[in-house]
Amino acid sequence: AKKAVVGPLVGAVDQGTSSTRFLVFNSKTAELLSHHQVEIKQQFPREGWVEQDPKEILQSVRDCIEKTCEKLGQLNIDISNIKAIGVTNQRETTVIWDKLTGEPLYNAVLWLDLRTQSTVEKLGKLIPGNKNFVKTKTGLPLSTYFSAVKLRWLFDNVKNVQKAVEGHRAVFGTIDSWLIWSLTGGINGGVHCTDVTNASRTMLFNIHSLKWDEELCDFFGIPMEILPSVRSCSEIYGLMKSGVLEGVPISGCLGDQSAALVGQMCFQDGQAKNTYGTGCFLLCNTGHKCVFSEHGLLTTVAYKLGRDKPVCYALEGSIAITGALIRWLRDNLGIIKTSEEIEKLAKEAGTSYDCYFVPAFSGLYAPYWKPSARGIICGLTQFTNKCHISFAALEAVCFQTREILDAMNHDCGIPLSHLQVDGGMTNNKILMQLQADILCIPVIKPTMPETTALGAAMAAGAAEGVGVWSLKPEDLSSVTMERFEPQINIEESEIRYATWKKAVMKSMDWVTM
Ligand code: G3P
Repeated sequence: AKKAVVGPLVGAVDQGTSSTRFLVFNSKTAELLSHHQVEIKQQFPREGWVEQDPKEILQSVRDCIEKTCEKLGQLNIDISNIKAIGVTNQRETTVIWDKLTGEPLYNAVLWLDLRTQSTVEKLGKLIPGNKNFVKTKTGLPLSTYFSAVKLRWLFDNVKNVQKAVEGHRAVFGTIDSWLIWSLTGGINGGVHCTDVTNASRTMLFNIHSLKWDEELCDFFGIPMEILPSVRSCSEIYGLMKSGVLEGVPISGCLGDQSAALVGQMCFQDGQAKNTYGTGCFLLCNTGHKCVFSEHGLLTTVAYKLGRDKPVCYALEGSIAITGALIRWLRDNLGIIKTSEEIEKLAKEAGTSYDCYFVPAFSGLYAPYWKPSARGIICGLTQFTNKCHISFAALEAVCFQTREILDAMNHDCGIPLSHLQVDGGMTNNKILMQLQADILCIPVIKPTMPETTALGAAMAAGAAEGVGVWSLKPEDLSSVTMERFEPQINIEESEIRYATWKKAVMKSMDWVTM
């Protein structure tokens, strides 16, 4: 059969915490033509530990690419129209592998992992002179969240890692580096690189000079030779070495939250988006200025869309557990069989019946940064059922976002007039309405929620030498928006929010014996 001609296409690998996807977009209209998704296993070898198998992650990417291309074939779309591939990924997650064998030296230690709590405490005491030196250079608080402490743990605890480091065979990367190195050839000439956004989450990267920082590497005891080279978010890093897309350039790379900012076209100072994935991440573009928060937010690199393009920064409010809470209700409590079922249960209840759920499974991130906090459900009565708990879980996502929005408004001075949202969970209409009610401002979502992948595709398509995406608003002509207006009065919303805050205090008071 004759293949339909659709113009240049761009693919995006979106390797998130919960799943891997490959999506193909039309670069002229941003229309999503085909995609495939595979869920990724998470391993919890001990309390607080979260790992994934780097090889499973890589295989899931290869499988998603093959399957998406198969689906394109069924649509009579010629895959030779795919001109570039972008990579976007769960950030901070730490992989260390042997560059001679291509074998990972340990499982990927996930961003959510808490094993480094005591390492963080020890390092905190060792900080020389200026107690703020890590934050000033990196924009980040010393926390279990970022890669440097995970690497430190691997050096101190895994014999294989120590040996490979001593033998100069070990290389480090966040998931983007592991994927790009593997997809561009691995032990046969794979490119060992990362981009400025992913680098800015390692706690080894100076966000002012945009270089690995010697003093930080010294402080964490990380040899600089294991670090990838740092590139912009939009340039050709290398070509696909095998598979159905062999020869196609990989030319976009951004941490998933930066990619969503680009996909939402938040290119102006003051524009913000909130992405609902495993966690929730609200980023506000602060332009070429590094703004430091007084309210528990991070300063991070937003994007640098080309080698010679200027860097833009963002303030970020990170919430560890949102989508992961729904997965927990499914996998650990079994009160739902699929994540989508949560909407039905919450609708049936229509209220949490004054039950509050603080999902501090990995401690609390922004704005509190309390690794010792633990999850709690409070306000239970004999009347409470799984529908109320489901409703409380959705409210927890919204209340956590409200805390971030408040912090953002304080730091920026000008309150956000609406919230742009995206990510898988935004398909849940109850959640979106609750979010508008709890924030007391309109919530606006694109009807195509895969904004993260779209951002990576845009960066890849716009790269020098590819040039099929212009990053102008008209390129998003196929993107339509849905709007949720607040429907409860402000006083009611404030009372619920105040009760939530009480529950948060209890979760922070929680001390295990
Ligand atoms: O910082 C962690 C973040 O990048 C994870 O994103 O989409 O997997 O929740 P996600």
